[in-house]
Amino acid sequence: MVTEVLEALALRPGDRVVDGTAGLGGHTRALAERVGMEGMVVAFEKDPLTFSVLVERVRSLPQVRPVHASYHEMSRFLSPASVQGVLLDLGLSSFLLEASGRGFSFRKPDELLDMRFNPEEGEPLYRRWRELHPEKLAEILTQYGEIRRALPLARAMFDRKPRTVGELNDVILTRAPRGGTRLLRKVYQALRIWINRELEILQMGLCAAWQVLTPGGRLVVLSYHSLEDRLVKCVRHLPGVRVLYPRGRTPQPGEVAENPRSRSARLRAFVKEGEDAVAVDACLRILARCAHPGQ
Ligand SMILES: C[S@@+](CC[C@H](N)C(=O)[O-])C[C@H]1O[C@@H](n2cnc3c(N)ncnc32)[C@H](O)[C@@H]1O
Repeated sequence: MVTEVLEALALRPGDRVVDGTAGLGGHTRALAERVGMEGMVVAFEKDPLTFSVLVERVRSLPQVRPVHASYHEMSRFLSPASVQGVLLDLGLSSFLLEASGRGFSFRKPDELLDMRFNPEEGEPLYRRWRELHPEKLAEILTQYGEIRRALPLARAMFDRKPRTVGELNDVILTRAPRGGTRLLRKVYQALRIWINRELEILQMGLCAAWQVLTPGGRLVVLSYHSLEDRLVKCVRHLPGVRVLYPRGRTPQPGEVAENPRSRSARLRAFVKEGEDAVAVDACLRILARCAHPGQ
């Protein structure tokens, strides 16, 4: 959705913009072209392998500053009210799925179940089963995979403590033979969200973005599942926000035909109006209240 992203960000030559999830630099290059040589694109990427490829790809673009860090830390690298746009393109890249060797895809049975975006931080999934118990695992599958009646499956996973993708697939398909690829996808999504603390990071990232945007600056987020989108939508409750597309935007049929993984993408865009800054703590509270009402 490069065209829609550029339209939503409405950048001008000389602007400064953050690409929070640069990947291999597809959007980064388009942003660099928009802001030109007088502008700047600060491109965050958490995965060291992806980051090294990104650095090579943007070497010829002096206005791009690659940063190997998580986007939720952007305010460590940027002053408050210093950029005109922030883009977050959430989720997995084809590179991580196909080439990282870290067990992100249920189609790679020989890979170890690691699933970390940054394998230099924390421990891989196959070493973390022992800190869970079946009830906690069932909660993860229900909350992040939207899998109903997950306890029997969670017990089977806990008993087997799979080390590889093939072993995990075996547990899932033995326990729920009719679940098929749909269930596999949901389980992999749930485990990946848990191990990378994706929703917590997203919440902190949205508030960090709000800090670094100038008045009139724009936050644009592409999300790929309803849990992310539910949280992103909550940005509308921040003081001084203008929502650009009340229902969000989805990809054109042509793009879905060309890239089937884009079918679940939803773009949301917000303008930060007015001079009033919202403190990070207040921002986190507003998002938490909206995303988890009653807690
Ligand atoms: C959907 S891809 C981005 C694709 C990119 N927009 C492009 O045009 O090539 C998401 C990327 O974000 C990275 N990522 C995930 N969580 C991150 C985080 N917290 N901070 C920075 N990068 C992150 C992933 O490693 C992956 O490369």
